[in-house]
Amino acid sequence: MKTRLDAPVGIDALAVAIPHRYLDLEDLARARDIDPAKYTQGLGAREMAVAEPGEDTVSLAASAARRALHIAQLDPRDLGLLIVGTETGVDHSKPVASFVHGLLGLPRAMRVYDTQHACYGGTAGLMTAVEWIASGAAGGRSALVICADIARYGVATAGEPTQGAGAVAMIVSSSPSILELDVGVTGASSTHVHDFWRPLGHREAQVDGHYSVECYLDAVATAYRGWRARAIARELIRADSPASEQLAALCYHVPFCKMARKAHLHVRRCDLEDAAAPWDPSTESLRAETHFRNQVEPSLHLCARIGNVYTGSLYLGLAGLLHTRGDLARRRIGLFSYGSGCTSEFFSGLIGPRASDRIAAAQLDSLLASRARISIDEYHRLMALTAPLLEPPPPGTFRFTGVDAHRRQYVAA
Ligand code: HMG
Repeated sequence: MKTRLDAPVGIDALAVAIPHRYLDLEDLARARDIDPAKYTQGLGAREMAVAEPGEDTVSLAASAARRALHIAQLDPRDLGLLIVGTETGVDHSKPVASFVHGLLGLPRAMRVYDTQHACYGGTAGLMTAVEWIASGAAGGRSALVICADIARYGVATAGEPTQGAGAVAMIVSSSPSILELDVGVTGASSTHVHDFWRPLGHREAQVDGHYSVECYLDAVATAYRGWRARAIARELIRADSPASEQLAALCYHVPFCKMARKAHLHVRRCDLEDAAAPWDPSTESLRAETHFRNQVEPSLHLCARIGNVYTGSLYLGLAGLLHTRGDLARRRIGLFSYGSGCTSEFFSGLIGPRASDRIAAAQLDSLLASRARISIDEYHRLMALTAPLLEPPPPGTFRFTGVDAHRRQYVAA
């Protein structure tokens, strides 16, 4: 007889919402008198999404959620849980989830709240939803988990080329067409560090950039080793060959694409250092490069064109992977979620048989193609909040229109 931990649970549908304007990073580099190759090759970034005043975290979250519900063809009455993972909400008390609940007209009889821990907030929501369903408490209902953020560091800062904005909405259910999670097989790593923070009242994040990269790498090593031990104990992978090579692909939290490369080389290093058999460092660098190109790079093309979307970055990577590779059905992949401060988790799952169809329904190519490239002057106006609201909203999206007394107002198209 199956235990609940063996019953399938995971992501059944996924949809993305992004701002309608983007800045080409070569334009940004030239404006900052920096060699464009530093951004395109050094950071691996091509473009970054720039939110306008009408595109706040709520409007992005609601737009993505509406698409995800449509793709899953889910009757909202079958939802029992709505969680928004975000670190850039619109109010200190009223959660983004509450606005989304109202805008989408979701049922009253459900739990609705936000989860926060920097970029890990979305994964906190996903894990809660997965374990809620696996425990049997969901009673057959599904969950809507949304990761939504606007990443801002400020004009002419080192973090500037790593900004972005967007939302990823996921339907989590017991019929996971996209990704069936290995429930209970995860590795976590948390330490109290000051790598990235945003003091109350600030729109822009502060970051100790190079230190944050070190914190991320330290976390991925511990989380990966924790996951690997559990995956071997549950016989999901073998102990006699590098675990990372037994995964068909790996998705990482992507603050900028080069970070995923650094993380992957670090994970391989963990495997090789821990291996019983000696390894030859002279051949490893070529093997690692090939492995990165096949197992990780396919997940990065959306991130390279949108930038850091904080909580949604890992899931934008998953969407990018499935959009690029159609050969992953029923194969196991690894995922690493990192939230500065810090907490992190490495987990895994089996790609569902209908994952490619589900991702095709998310129409990622047309989302990117419908964006408008902005000039550096327009970017400065948007950062200074002096650009006009874009009217009317593009079809299928929500837009913030202003505050009426104390109530934030939104329109839907
Ligand atoms: P920097 O100091 O301006 O850049 O900031 P750099 O000098 O380190 O150069 C970056 C790379 O470009 C280097 O490559 C250079 O060699 C290369 P690497 O050595 O790292 O492989 N480079 C060039 N390449 C080609 N042609 C050239 C050239 N010049 C240099 N001409 C930094 C970089 C990432 C620190 C900065 O952008 C930053 O502070 N970003 C924000 C922080 C961040 O993203 N941290 C990542 C880890 S923390 C995290 O992921 C959590 C987060 O998402 C928040 C959350 O959890 O909520 C941020």
